[in-house]
Amino acid sequence: TTYAEPFRGQFHFSSQSGWMNDPNGLVFANGLYHFFYQHNPHGLEWDTMHWGHATSPDLVHWTQKPIALEPGVHPGTLFSGGGIVDKFNTSGLKTGALDPIVVFSNTNGVSVFYSNDNGRSFQAYDGGRKQIEIPEESRDPNVVWDADRRQWVMVVWSNRGGNGVDIYTSPNLLQWTFASRYAADWLFECPDLFVLPLDGTPQWVLTSATSEYVVGSFDGTTFRTDRPQPKKMNLGTTFPGGTFYAAESFDNTPDGRVVQMAWQGGNRGGSWTGNATFPVALGLVGSPDGPKITRTPVAELDSLRADTRTWRNTTVTATNNPFAGILADTYEITARFDLRGATAQEFGFALHSRSDGTADRTVTYDRVAGTLYGRPFQPTGDEVSVRLLVDRGQLEVFSGDGLFSVADNVNFDSAAVSQGIRLFANGGTVRLKDAKFTRLSTSWG
Ligand code: FRU
Repeated sequence: TTYAEPFRGQFHFSSQSGWMNDPNGLVFANGLYHFFYQHNPHGLEWDTMHWGHATSPDLVHWTQKPIALEPGVHPGTLFSGGGIVDKFNTSGLKTGALDPIVVFSNTNGVSVFYSNDNGRSFQAYDGGRKQIEIPEESRDPNVVWDADRRQWVMVVWSNRGGNGVDIYTSPNLLQWTFASRYAADWLFECPDLFVLPLDGTPQWVLTSATSEYVVGSFDGTTFRTDRPQPKKMNLGTTFPGGTFYAAESFDNTPDGRVVQMAWQGGNRGGSWTGNATFPVALGLVGSPDGPKITRTPVAELDSLRADTRTWRNTTVTATNNPFAGILADTYEITARFDLRGATAQEFGFALHSRSDGTADRTVTYDRVAGTLYGRPFQPTGDEVSVRLLVDRGQLEVFSGDGLFSVADNVNFDSAAVSQGIRLFANGGTVRLKDAKFTRLSTSWG
């Protein structure tokens, strides 16, 4: 496989072949980012879940690795789960010079698997026996280090008379004690628990597969929130097979960033199905209705930047297209518009536009409806800013310092004549403060 097929993300991770769904066990270990994922190597549909594996030095350039967890070789139901790096060898599982990677999977209970060769091979701890038994329907264990109490904390989705997560704690990743339950009235597949600073003060954040999140505190036993919640992290379509689902964050990033990737299920080619969102660094900002998550593409994107063009102080109309003449299929656009003096009812970018006026997708700010890309949107003062990541089968829209983000799958037409970009204003004009177009080269080696 050359990764050159139409619709194949050039800077969005996809499995070299077969089906992928949820990201699993994201860790930075022994100098590499590890991306594991729900994987069927035998077909293009969901079936016989394995854990696929890829590594990257920089979150951008991924190398496909052999399967990490395989039914028949590794016992249990190898559904989604998290992973951590056991840097302090709390488990005693370390045998060599490398930090062990420990991952968690199975349903109706939790099994532990570990690797002492940086993810090349995984052993089942205790023969794969469940170290936690959960009689109710449950799955998707995920683990985080609680630095204040020097303990591990696990969240597991379980259906105990309703949705929610069970919280367990452990000193050593192997013996777990039930600590508490966080009950919630929304589907809590793939919970992810992590710490993010808000104005310098650490907050505990709990997210679910559907991208709802709650911000609160954790005292070592109980997770508490004090505001009317949850909030929605992302306005992609959040259901299995949608364009944003089952996000997980990396454990042990070298600089402490919380970096998140999610599953996009709306894209397939002849040899693969599904891809991951481009990694984003998460942040928290205060707002009248409580802390909100911001999502910002990781700066490592820089390594793909090729030729750049910039614009400054340009009036956009229905007929004057500053982007005329550019043909591209993998690129980034940033642009800032001035709402003062704007008369256009709507303005935006038509992507993969053609000379006959058609385009594959339009990203529009509608001044009258107050929407961006069809979603409710709050400009920052008099300014509308957008940042677009356009790939062959993926479109990500960011704005407002990361408070607005949408991940989408679009099967962009690969023909050169369909690779135009049209910046437009309808029903009047708007002033473009500045804009930048950057071609992104492929991340596949
Ligand atoms: C979410 C999910 C998880 C489960 C996995 C199975 O997409 O249903 O809850 O562990 O997929 O592949």
